Amino acid sequence: MKQIIDVELKARKVDFSKCKTELLAVGQFSDVKGLDKPSKELSSKLDGAIERLIKLGDFKGKDGTSAIVYGNDRIGAKRVLLVGLGEKKKATLGTVRKAAAYAANKAVEMKIGAVSLALHSAFGARFDLTTMARVMAEGTYFGSYRYDEFVTESENGRLDSLGVELIDSDSAKTKKLNKGLWSGAIIGKAQSYARTLANRPGNVINPAKLAAAAKDLARGSKGLSCTVFDEKQLAAKGMGGVLAVGSGSQNKPRFIVLKYNGAGKGDAVGLVGKAITFDSGGISIKRSAKMDEMKLDKSGGIVVLGTMKAVAELKLPINVYGIIPAAENMPSGTSYRPGDIITTFSGKTVEVLDTDAEGRMVLCDGLAYAAKQKCNPIIDIATLTGACLVALGRYMAGLMSNDENLKRQLQSAAKESGEKVWPMPSGDEYAEEMKSKVADLKNLADANKYGDACNAAAFLAQFVGDAKWAHLDIAGMDLFAESKFSTKGSSGFGVRLLTTYLMNLKGKKG
Ligand code: BES
Ligand code: ZN
Ligand code: ZN
Repeated sequence: MKQIIDVELKARKVDFSKCKTELLAVGQFSDVKGLDKPSKELSSKLDGAIERLIKLGDFKGKDGTSAIVYGNDRIGAKRVLLVGLGEKKKATLGTVRKAAAYAANKAVEMKIGAVSLALHSAFGARFDLTTMARVMAEGTYFGSYRYDEFVTESENGRLDSLGVELIDSDSAKTKKLNKGLWSGAIIGKAQSYARTLANRPGNVINPAKLAAAAKDLARGSKGLSCTVFDEKQLAAKGMGGVLAVGSGSQNKPRFIVLKYNGAGKGDAVGLVGKAITFDSGGISIKRSAKMDEMKLDKSGGIVVLGTMKAVAELKLPINVYGIIPAAENMPSGTSYRPGDIITTFSGKTVEVLDTDAEGRMVLCDGLAYAAKQKCNPIIDIATLTGACLVALGRYMAGLMSNDENLKRQLQSAAKESGEKVWPMPSGDEYAEEMKSKVADLKNLADANKYGDACNAAAFLAQFVGDAKWAHLDIAGMDLFAESKFSTKGSSGFGVRLLTTYLMNLKGKKG
């Protein structure tokens, strides 16, 4: 099987025009006339080729566009890739990350094994250099990622690795950049790891295989340990929610608990991720169109796995639990049915009205387990509802919380990580709709799918006890359309967001 493309990162002090490289990527804003000093110098050595190209209108610096100018013997680069940065006044860290992703994606597409990213002077003044290097590293991982482990036909020259260097003419800057590259590489690699696990289909990954992957991860990471409950232990513990959802499948459910200890005794943050390795809907079966996308219904759990990997490698001085209820939702003679009443781990009973609303059935056990371990805060992440996708589309995850401060912390991590969230309501009215006449709760409101993202969140909120809690509905976020910045398939949405949130908790940045 093909391995994912390895990225090797470093920062180097060198003038743009002297940089010997296969591909030199230089950013250009759309609303800035003329070139900045280093690009101008580059262009003059190319007899004004960059200025001519811009004058002809062939490249306008728009976001998501680029142009290539070929080098000559007066500059070190064989090719110069002009990367559009969009409007200068709108530029954020996300602009930097996307530009790096764009260049890395282009390098892989062109089968060029080395790319040098020139630091734009405008960003150097605006952002902290360490943070900038971090986001550039994250971007290069994101853009160069490919999922082709099962493609057996040779793809003449597909890269095994990509060498990436950040260049600047100031050595004081390159030192700071190197520091940021370290954490960026850890986060980028963790996100690629998550994308690969998420992209693997249901016949390759099932709950037991996911649990084995979690064990492998813990074995290779200092400070990380992993316990897995199989179906017998789930029954002994009374984890009725996870068991019910998994009951229709030959592939039995698992409950994965990862623990990272970076602060000795003391509070732990609980991360809980939905991992349905395939969601057919069960007896309330889904339509067949695009059902294949439901292999990504394990993304929440996998994001938790990826985040635990990053947290351990970053050696963050905090304690974190990663809790992943994993099941396959299938229709069969042993499946749970509409009308069933399930006793969950918390002791609360739930009337099942739709077996396709299975995410909340596994998460309620995960959340109650986190609460029992005294995790505080508890954050869950899940491809939970089609309703959230209808409400917010593909660019932002829904964020519900019972704590304003936690909500703000996640919003600021979202801004920094470029994985965006939007606050959504959830509260007493929605909780009221989840009350059942024959059990404590039901898994679907009478209003059916109207406002289901909010109803689902209100259902989950009842399983966290007194803990501060936030819920991230990432339905639709993990299915990344083919773009200028990366390849189709899982985006690993949430690894950067959660890792950034955790990094900010103790103010430890690198
Ligand atoms: N996994 C789905 C939600 C989903 C939908 C994720 C689209 C990604 C893209 C979830 O388990 C589900 O099936 N939800 C149902 C709930 C309904 C039966 C109340 C839905 O949204 O239709
Ligand atoms: Zn479902
Ligand atoms: Zn689902």
